Amino acid sequence: MATWSFAEPPHLPLVLPSILSADFASLGEDSAGVLAAGADGLHIDVMDGHFVPNLTMGPAIVRSLRAALPDAMLDVHLMVQDPAAFAEPFVEAGANHLTFHAEVLDRNAAIKLAERVRTLGASAGIAINPDTPASAALEVVEAFELVLVMSVQPGFSGQAFRPEVVDKVSQIREAAGGRVRIQMDGGISPANGELVRNAGCDTLVAASAIFGKPEGERAAVIAALAGRG
Ligand code: DX5
Ligand code: ZN
Repeated sequence: MATWSFAEPPHLPLVLPSILSADFASLGEDSAGVLAAGADGLHIDVMDGHFVPNLTMGPAIVRSLRAALPDAMLDVHLMVQDPAAFAEPFVEAGANHLTFHAEVLDRNAAIKLAERVRTLGASAGIAINPDTPASAALEVVEAFELVLVMSVQPGFSGQAFRPEVVDKVSQIREAAGGRVRIQMDGGISPANGELVRNAGCDTLVAASAIFGKPEGERAAVIAALAGRG
């Protein structure tokens, strides 16, 4: 299992490549490659064809990645209608962290699921879509290690960044303080990395900006996203 957690990160900001844009025919090599290139972990986008109009990966992918990369932080983003049904299978397969969406659970159910995820041995994140207000995350933030502010409508990689969501990041950072990680996901690239870091985002996820580049250029993109470029 990973040697660090979102509650106790080794440094900030964190950069997590989303394997949604990896070459699935060489997923192990692509994943190990970005970790060697300076990524802090892997972001795994799970889509169920209901909450979002796409299908991606299940627990079996996490199990294979865990076996191949025993120390990697595996951050699972559940874009599913019924996250409670998937908490156990994903943690059991080796996920370190599960983020699920505020749009599918009321406040009590979200807090209860975060507690269950923690009991299973992982940390928990609450995600909000671009059109969901910051208050939906803030009303449960105490129960979570991470808030994910989506910067595209979830479903597909390669969409354009929506700058209007940056205000929500500032609001959440101001209200929640430094304890919680604030992750952004969708259209993140070196072109907007500084903007989102300055707003208080300390966990950057990118799929196409990293895997869309040849392998030899990925370390530079990861460094640029972290502000080390
Ligand atoms: C969006 C997913 C993202 C997506 C990001 O539906 O949750 O993680 O893969 O892709 P890019 O970075 O290409 O926008
Ligand atoms: Zn994601």
